Amino acid sequence: MKVLITREIPQVGINLLKEHKEIEIDYRKGPPLSREELKRAVKDVDAIIPVIPDQISKEIIEHADNLKVIAAYSVGYDHIDLDAATRKNIYVGNTPGDLTEAVAEHSFALMMSLGRRVAEADRFCRAKRYEYWSPMAFIGPKFMNKTLGIIGFGRIGQFFARMAKNGLNMRILYTDVISHPEGENLLDAEKVSLDYLLTNSDVVSIHVNLTEETKHMIDHDQLKLMKPLSILINTSRGPIIDENALVTALKEGIIAGAALDVFENEPHIHPDLLKLKNVVLTPHIASATWEARIQMARMAVENVIDVLVDKKPPRYIVNKELIKDIVSSIV
Ligand code: DGY
Repeated sequence: MKVLITREIPQVGINLLKEHKEIEIDYRKGPPLSREELKRAVKDVDAIIPVIPDQISKEIIEHADNLKVIAAYSVGYDHIDLDAATRKNIYVGNTPGDLTEAVAEHSFALMMSLGRRVAEADRFCRAKRYEYWSPMAFIGPKFMNKTLGIIGFGRIGQFFARMAKNGLNMRILYTDVISHPEGENLLDAEKVSLDYLLTNSDVVSIHVNLTEETKHMIDHDQLKLMKPLSILINTSRGPIIDENALVTALKEGIIAGAALDVFENEPHIHPDLLKLKNVVLTPHIASATWEARIQMARMAVENVIDVLVDKKPPRYIVNKELIKDIVSSIV
């Protein structure tokens, strides 16, 4: 049985796999595989552990003759053609819950960095431009007691809200397709409409999955609803924001700033974002804590072992329709 791991991941995952002598590991540690390289590599594998930039398309899935499980090294699985996998009875697994704190902490860091102009001031110092102290330099907003609007009040959204509430006494507004009464009670949070959230928040942070419905959820019209001094944070997926509309909003002062860890066409970053001062950019690193990345490796490998060795569905399964019959035979 053969497993393709497309990029270097923490050793703990490799060690777990190596405990199973029957598993051969095709471990690629270099840069991302091209479409053709990926196509060649998947031909005879039983499992793939892909990372975010690997497009596991219908073409790739159909080319993989023995594939039984795609164990994403991520929570997000928008880079995998789920329908194509399900049609071929190939399990898709992910790594839920492992990076909640990491992504929430990064969202918090982006909020503070943008508001208190940390990255901009750092560039100023390194350019040897700090010649004298100025009363009017690098002024930004205070966040204490302000309003944080969370779009998508799942695990990550609620954890960020918790830090903002407990640390900065921020008022919490949220939108979601479902209500979260426990989170509401714990954080004194209010479920509101998207328009209300955008109109009333000082900080707006996005924590939804990328789907057909959420693509360009924040476009020109939505940005226009935001307060001129408000900031937008995105650590979820780039295409949720219409990047051209965001650039216009930032240039025209419709909003005060944006802090982005994800981009519409990664790894390409809109050239105007690179020029704007009221923007903080990080290269999709919100989950980059040792703790989260080690746990991601463990969970992705557990998904593979479940299927290949223990002959059962992956414990963190995404395409649950494949286990409908098992579930209904138990309950
Ligand atoms: C995920 O897991 O979906 C993150 O975007 C990358 O860690």
